[in-house]
Amino acid sequence: MFTFNVIEKTTLFTCWIALFSVAAAHNQLQNHKTSKNAKPNFVYIIADDQDAATFNPELMPITAGWLSDGTNYTNFFAPVSVCCPSRVSFLRSQYAHNHNITDVVVPYGGWDTFESYGYNGKWLPSWLQEAGYQTYYTGKLMNGNNIMNAVTRPTAGFNGSDIFLDPYTYSYINTSISHNGGPPIKNTTYSTDIVRDIGLGYIDAAVQSDQPFFIGLAPIGPHSQSLPAPPLPYRFFPPVSAPRHATLFNNTLAPRGNSFNPDWPSGASWVRTLAQANETVIEWYDYWYQQRIRALQAVDEMVGAIFEKLASENLLNNTYVIYTADNGFSIAQHRRDPGKGTGYEEDIRVPFMVRGPGIEPGINEVTAHNVADISATIANVAGAEADYDIDGRVMPWGSANAKTRDIGTPTHHLSEYWGTTIGETKYTQGIIYPNNTYRTLRLIEDDNNWAYTVWCTGERELFNMKNDTTQMHNDLEGLGVAAQSKFFNSTLSQAARVASRLDGLALFLKTCKGADCRFAWKHLFPNGEVTTMKQALNTVYDQYFDRLPKIQFTSCDLGYFNAHELPYWSTNLAFFHDLDTPNITLPLYKRDPEAYAWLQCGS
Ligand SMILES: *[C@@H]1O[C@H](CO)[C@@H](O)[C@H](O)[C@H]1NC(C)=O
Ligand SMILES: *[C@@H]1O[C@H](CO)[C@@H](O)[C@H](O)[C@H]1NC(C)=O
Ligand SMILES: *[C@@H]1O[C@H](CO)[C@@H](O)[C@H](O)[C@H]1NC(C)=O
Ligand SMILES: *[C@@H]1O[C@H](CO)[C@@H](O)[C@H](O)[C@H]1NC(C)=O
Ligand SMILES: *[C@@H]1O[C@H](CO)[C@@H](O)[C@H](O)[C@H]1NC(C)=O
Ligand SMILES: *[C@@H]1O[C@H](CO)[C@@H](O)[C@H](O)[C@H]1NC(C)=O
Ligand SMILES: *[C@@H]1O[C@H](CO)[C@@H](O)[C@H](O)[C@H]1NC(C)=O
Ligand SMILES: *[C@@H]1O[C@H](CO)[C@@H](O)[C@H](O)[C@H]1NC(C)=O
Ligand SMILES: *[C@@H]1O[C@H](CO)[C@@H](O)[C@H](O)[C@H]1NC(C)=O
Ligand SMILES: *[C@@H]1O[C@H](CO)[C@@H](O)[C@H](O)[C@H]1NC(C)=O
Ligand SMILES: *[C@@H]1O[C@H](CO)[C@@H](O)[C@H](O)[C@H]1NC(C)=O
Ligand SMILES: *[C@@H]1O[C@H](CO)[C@@H](O)[C@H](O)[C@H]1NC(C)=O
Repeated sequence: MFTFNVIEKTTLFTCWIALFSVAAAHNQLQNHKTSKNAKPNFVYIIADDQDAATFNPELMPITAGWLSDGTNYTNFFAPVSVCCPSRVSFLRSQYAHNHNITDVVVPYGGWDTFESYGYNGKWLPSWLQEAGYQTYYTGKLMNGNNIMNAVTRPTAGFNGSDIFLDPYTYSYINTSISHNGGPPIKNTTYSTDIVRDIGLGYIDAAVQSDQPFFIGLAPIGPHSQSLPAPPLPYRFFPPVSAPRHATLFNNTLAPRGNSFNPDWPSGASWVRTLAQANETVIEWYDYWYQQRIRALQAVDEMVGAIFEKLASENLLNNTYVIYTADNGFSIAQHRRDPGKGTGYEEDIRVPFMVRGPGIEPGINEVTAHNVADISATIANVAGAEADYDIDGRVMPWGSANAKTRDIGTPTHHLSEYWGTTIGETKYTQGIIYPNNTYRTLRLIEDDNNWAYTVWCTGERELFNMKNDTTQMHNDLEGLGVAAQSKFFNSTLSQAARVASRLDGLALFLKTCKGADCRFAWKHLFPNGEVTTMKQALNTVYDQYFDRLPKIQFTSCDLGYFNAHELPYWSTNLAFFHDLDTPNITLPLYKRDPEAYAWLQCGS
């Protein structure tokens, strides 16, 4: 029924951009400062595998103290819930379906793949250098910066870099570092303290020049300790704390929510097959959690040291300090071994706080954002520009970008994932969970807070996050897998009505590019009659959403293969309310090409 004529689609999309896009505004309304010296500095701190729940004043008192003068973005998500793809989304301000770094190792991810795509030097640090910045980075950049390629494939775009090298990246006390693209240097100082000390040194170096600076600090904490262990590439161990934190939290247990090691199977795909953990295993999980939050203490102290240094250099009033993480982490939710990689809330929800000039102090920002938005926003505030179309949205940063941020109120976020995942304790060592390809849409509006996942197995999950925050009641359970994977019938249930809307929105978002990604509803409803979930839930749109093709995977691939994820969104699928024929039939563009000729730029 639906055809995907490539030429026609391209033409339409080109016109589309000319007519609707705010991309131009995005790029042109930059923050033009008269002198380079007036530009603000950035310190970007990215923790490794830190779920949002551990980012609070109790576990990170020093960080929370300094950042209490900043804004806390309470709906912040990972575009992919695993390190390398998420970090690339930050570095390139792109969703994974556009940068196609979907895994941590070759062929679908890792530094060598990143390099082979020509991305090295086409990323945030390079845009910033172009805009007059000096740039520095230390810690983990991404998986696959290793002792073999450090010298042959050095990073481009940093004035100073000290990059952690595999296979010792996740060794807390046996780190290997490439200084400015040089050969590996072993360092047995506690990993996070190295990042702290190098970071303080960067500030010393940066103040020597009158160029504004960007400093990226990427400690390993609280990632698990992972060491090379042939024939496995790695063996995972609990995170290691600095000796000074080793006895803290010894009575603290991993948080027990509804979904903690539940009595009945929950979730979908491989998650649903997991057995309940026994007490021995749960004790191990508690120890694991304690080691995580102990390892976090050095991160907390590092943030404090950086703030003190900035204060002593009188730089606080002209420096943005950003705190975030690449992806979340789960311990025993839905019976899962400690790890990440799914679309469940613990894995995708990450911290984001920023403090700096113009940022509103002490508030929570509830609009939905993700890691790809960080670089878009830094570039915006720095007056820097990418030399390709970026997907990220410019976040509201108070008066810092009141006139140049992206318009609209973002309420949705799509997390993507391809391939397999693993658990990280000794109990699941070596087990690879297949069928972990999925899309998860989060939608957060006043009266609507939904998590919707389509798995490559055809399973679909819908959680009402207003009263099911632990995601234990799949509202689509009753529909059965076969029905779920083919259609929704809005007359049958409210859950089907909600899911049909979310599926339509995700169908658009899963292949969106550039500025289009920031205005998803506008693509479903070009005449603008629907811009919110609340409006979309009007019964007059039941038929439209029911009849939209549904997201389908024909297989559970390890990478991103277009042909196995059809249909793709096409302008043909948009809703057009035709005033002359108030009946809503199948409201596709094809229905009345003449009426919509304007879409084809007058042709
Ligand atoms: C950020 O906001 C969330 C949600 O209100 C809260 O739980 C968390 O403690 C805050 N984090 C910090 C560091 O203030
Ligand atoms: C940083 O590197 C850029 C690009 O090579 C260069 O133009 C700039 O002068 C450097 N800044 C400092 C402080 O070395
Ligand atoms: C520590 O790292 C060095 C390389 O820097 C390596 O040769 C050595 O085997 C490592 N030691 C341990 C215990 O992992
Ligand atoms: C290891 O890192 C520390 C910074 O924490 C530094 O003082 C020390 O010189 C480094 N050692 C080597 C061998 O580079
Ligand atoms: C916790 O650590 C403190 C300080 O080392 C120690 O006195 C106490 O006995 C420990 N408690 C447990 C339950 O291990
Ligand atoms: C608990 O479960 C683990 C992992 O399956 C198993 O190795 C262990 O033997 C079990 N312990 C008891 C006491 O059943
Ligand atoms: C920042 O503070 C310093 C020292 O108090 C002051 O000299 C400078 O003018 C301030 N800069 C801005 C942009 O407020
Ligand atoms: C993966 O999905 C396929 C297709 O649905 C199914 O046959 C297979 O059993 C699944 N494997 C696991 C481990 O879930
Ligand atoms: C959440 O609220 C909705 C609407 O009131 C209700 O249908 C649903 O059963 C509730 N879910 C749970 C898990 O309580
Ligand atoms: C939806 O369900 C209703 C009630 O069972 C049925 O009459 C209608 O034909 C169904 N629509 C579709 C498109 O299957
Ligand atoms: C993504 O990368 C893989 C590995 O190189 C490639 O096979 C695939 O075609 C790419 N997908 C897209 C959509 O470009
Ligand atoms: C379509 O509209 C016509 C006239 O406006 C009306 O008579 C008819 O009942 C409508 N059909 C449906 C299915 O709503």
